[in-house]
Amino acid sequence: MRTSIITSVLSAVTAVYGYADPMACTGVCTNAHDPALIRRDDGTYYRFSTGGKIAIHSAPSITGPWTYKGAAIPAGSKINLKGKDDLWAPDVTKVADTYYLYYSVSSFGVQDSAIGVATSTNLDTWTDHGATGIASSAGKNYNAIDGALYWDGSKFVMSFGSFWSDIFSVGMANPPLNTSGSATTPIAFKPEGEHAQEGAFIAKNGNYHYLFFSVGKCCGFDANRPAKGAEYKIQVCRSTSATGGFVDQAGKKCTEGGGTTVLESHGFVYGPGGQGVFYDPKLGPVLYYHYVDTRIGYADGQKKFGVNAINFSSGWPVV
Ligand SMILES: *[C@@H]1O[C@H](CO)[C@@H](O)[C@H](O)[C@H]1NC(C)=O
Ligand SMILES: *[C@@H]1O[C@H](CO)[C@@H](O)[C@H](O)[C@H]1NC(C)=O
Repeated sequence: MRTSIITSVLSAVTAVYGYADPMACTGVCTNAHDPALIRRDDGTYYRFSTGGKIAIHSAPSITGPWTYKGAAIPAGSKINLKGKDDLWAPDVTKVADTYYLYYSVSSFGVQDSAIGVATSTNLDTWTDHGATGIASSAGKNYNAIDGALYWDGSKFVMSFGSFWSDIFSVGMANPPLNTSGSATTPIAFKPEGEHAQEGAFIAKNGNYHYLFFSVGKCCGFDANRPAKGAEYKIQVCRSTSATGGFVDQAGKKCTEGGGTTVLESHGFVYGPGGQGVFYDPKLGPVLYYHYVDTRIGYADGQKKFGVNAINFSSGWPVV
């Protein structure tokens, strides 16, 4: 009897951790760190990623073949901070007929950071506008990187942050070139250790706003891999407000360490993170992210683009 209880517990665990492999990907599927995914009305998919002054790749379908198209901001950012020639963590949103690309100007491990914005009408050529007004320096309780724009039904909000006191939100004007005020609200925090939480992205499903984020060590796995489980993984909380009240599936507040794991290392997938959610006209909601394909290699430049369909039928995202 004891054995059968253990067996059923084990099979429940297997079901919970039974992540689907990423969908097929052809063409240039590496160079995909912190991806942002969007589809143009003509059906062409665009992927933006960290490095190369925001690398642009495009493809005729979500699975490829992906082709490198150049840098979004080839002259570097107008924001005069160290890192203006090495832009991170793009986020792309279409508002009316204009695409808005948010990027981070920073350098590793410091708070001298800012979120910048560029616009485009075709996703190929971009005009940099520089500062959004979201910035940080030593002494602030956040690091102004990893911005992601979200329309909550009545206003634009930007989630941002990385380490220190983790994830915050700030109101954005319409059109969303700048903040609408200076008030920042904490929305997620991991009290333990280095507060390794970043890369937030809010998406709507049903009555809830879902806050996805990455937890753990992101990078440099070729030089140094952390203890098992301390590498990047993707978690989620949800709320009926886009600016607070996020809790995980167990009801734990996201500002007090809450977070339900959506995707973590499994099979050949190691350290998935830098995620976003995209509503595909054919596939419905998909989670996209970067990961190490252990069959290829652990270097940051080898990070691969992953896509999984999301099943929200339980009220929580399952991939
Ligand atoms: C946004 O506001 C900041 C701070 O007021 C300002 O420096 C910046 O130029 C503004 N950016 C845009 C794109 O209007
Ligand atoms: C979504 O998950 C539920 C179980 O939670 C399952 O019954 C349903 O078939 C799944 N939907 C799809 C499209 O896979």
